[in-house]
Amino acid sequence: MNAQELAARHEAVNEDAESYWLEEAKRLDWYSFPTTANRSSFDEGDFGIRWFEDGELNVTVNCLDRHLATRGDRTAIIFEGDEPGEGYSLTYAQVHEEVCRFANALKACGVGKGDRVAIYMPMIPEAAFAMLGCARIGAIHSVVFGGFSPDSLADRIEDCGAKLLVTADEGVRGGKRIPLKDNADKALEKSPVEAVIMVRRTGGEVNFVEGRDRWWHDLREEVSATCEPEKMNAEDPLFILYTSGSTGKPKGVMHTTGGYLLWVTATFDIVFGATDEDVFWCTADVGWVTGHSYVVYAPLANGATTVMFDGVPNYPDFGRFWETSNRLGVTIFYTAPTALRALMREGDEWVKQHDRSQIRLLGTVGEPINPEAWNWYHEVVGDGRCEIVDTWWQTETGGMLITPVPGAVKTKPGSATLPLPGVYTKLVDNDGKELTGPAEGNLCLTQSWPGQMRGVWGDDERFFQTYFTTYPGMYFTGDGCRRDDDGYHWITGRVDDVINVSGHRMGTAEVESALVAHPKVAEAAVVGMPHDVKGQGIYAYVTLNAGEPESEELRQELRQFVRKEIGAIASPDAIQFAPALPKTRSGKIMRRILRKIAEGEPDKVGDVSTLAEPAVVDALIKGAQA
Ligand code: WTA
Repeated sequence: MNAQELAARHEAVNEDAESYWLEEAKRLDWYSFPTTANRSSFDEGDFGIRWFEDGELNVTVNCLDRHLATRGDRTAIIFEGDEPGEGYSLTYAQVHEEVCRFANALKACGVGKGDRVAIYMPMIPEAAFAMLGCARIGAIHSVVFGGFSPDSLADRIEDCGAKLLVTADEGVRGGKRIPLKDNADKALEKSPVEAVIMVRRTGGEVNFVEGRDRWWHDLREEVSATCEPEKMNAEDPLFILYTSGSTGKPKGVMHTTGGYLLWVTATFDIVFGATDEDVFWCTADVGWVTGHSYVVYAPLANGATTVMFDGVPNYPDFGRFWETSNRLGVTIFYTAPTALRALMREGDEWVKQHDRSQIRLLGTVGEPINPEAWNWYHEVVGDGRCEIVDTWWQTETGGMLITPVPGAVKTKPGSATLPLPGVYTKLVDNDGKELTGPAEGNLCLTQSWPGQMRGVWGDDERFFQTYFTTYPGMYFTGDGCRRDDDGYHWITGRVDDVINVSGHRMGTAEVESALVAHPKVAEAAVVGMPHDVKGQGIYAYVTLNAGEPESEELRQELRQFVRKEIGAIASPDAIQFAPALPKTRSGKIMRRILRKIAEGEPDKVGDVSTLAEPAVVDALIKGAQA
């Protein structure tokens, strides 16, 4: 897209949003084309997010059926396993058949429209079949990242009331096996489901519960290869995806059918512009929103070829991304800054030994990208040839909101640049006062866009409370942002109690509650700390029960404990034993102080006079784990 075309879009949506969005809606095939576009309000009195309200469609018809006549033989999914070259390709016709079979298998297990299905899977095509199989029949999927613990899985199954679980015998990552079915069995002891569909991935030995568990390869043979798609209203739920917030347990972010699909379809086209010559590789796992939107839904809705990668960037060596890109003919590559920082440290040779001349566009997502990593990506990986798109968005936004559009927006290393057409940002100070011109403040969105989340599963009040009450009348992103003279956006990171570890969101409250569940821990406070590779690391202050001796072994034990409770991504990078935590006289922990100590800037803790015991701070500074 060139600058004029992009400007024309901005103008069109600014002038007459209703017409613009109804025109955009033609990107999809509808049973019944919507007569209205946006019917949303962020205000307390008539709060609600609604798009294309009277439209009817089916997601899988858009992702699969509509391509069959013209491109049924085109490759839809290229699967690349953990071992280089372990994989295969599937055409649109093949994926269509598998999805219909999966949908029928779900039905055979008693799943119907509106039922919830949990998916706990490796990055194998069957994960996509399961997601799309749900969408085919109007069931709501909730994918749980395969790295989460049995307890985390159980919590999510229980919260959404899943009827069925789709899992695999084992996963394999970086040569190591992950006992998915064992974990699932443990989770199901706490939160039972009626049925389990298990995919054979490794052939490893697993427990099999008669009457509850079914093998996918058996079911697949029993069911028909055709399945009528369910007619869905645009606002019927498509999926729930749990994500961490400032408080409490992870919340079930709910996305619906029409607006979500349109948003990911349009943004994929506008930003990546994939044609029949392209092979698109987004390295995210389907357990995260990036995997939902840009591994599965957007590429398929656009008829593109998408890579599903079940490995890691450093196995068998640090050249994996580039070796595989070259072998598979990848032309558009989309990954997280944390992976780039980790690879950058290993030296340029790992990149240069592989031919990358077929790559034309490079993207990042998940966390701020530091200019060093941006430049390395541009100069070394892209040979200075490829444009870089630093795409800012969130689980809640469904798809990209702030990003350069290649060919139309000049990039600056480290900036996500400008909002897409139809996205309206505002920066406010802590009192909610609008900041104009170049400024730094809290990033808000003033109007709805089709891909916006529609609710927190099972808790309408929490949706409004979490996102629309901090700055009334606006959606608050939780991110800080600086806007420069050119109006470019520089995301500075989370300003709430969410830590972004390697591009994954972790709530401090979740890690704290895991720590205090340990019998030797009296109290815990968790903050983020700067980390060269992960972006942010987890820094935990732990107060032990009276008389409990501090030791390195106990530190290790606590790390293991959190890993077991939540998953490896939540394991603290630093644990400081703290005889006491800095509290106000009313008993509130002053996190600002803890953050500064964890950031290695104890001289900036600021005013401590409101603390009940100011001396606590000196003790903490002495014990810092920098
Ligand atoms: C951060 C991932 C800076 C941000 C799609 C956001 C980013 C959170 C960027 C959402 C970016 C994502 N630049 N920060 N390009 N992309 N973030 O829900 O803090 O897993 O709020 O969605 O990641 O993380 P989530």
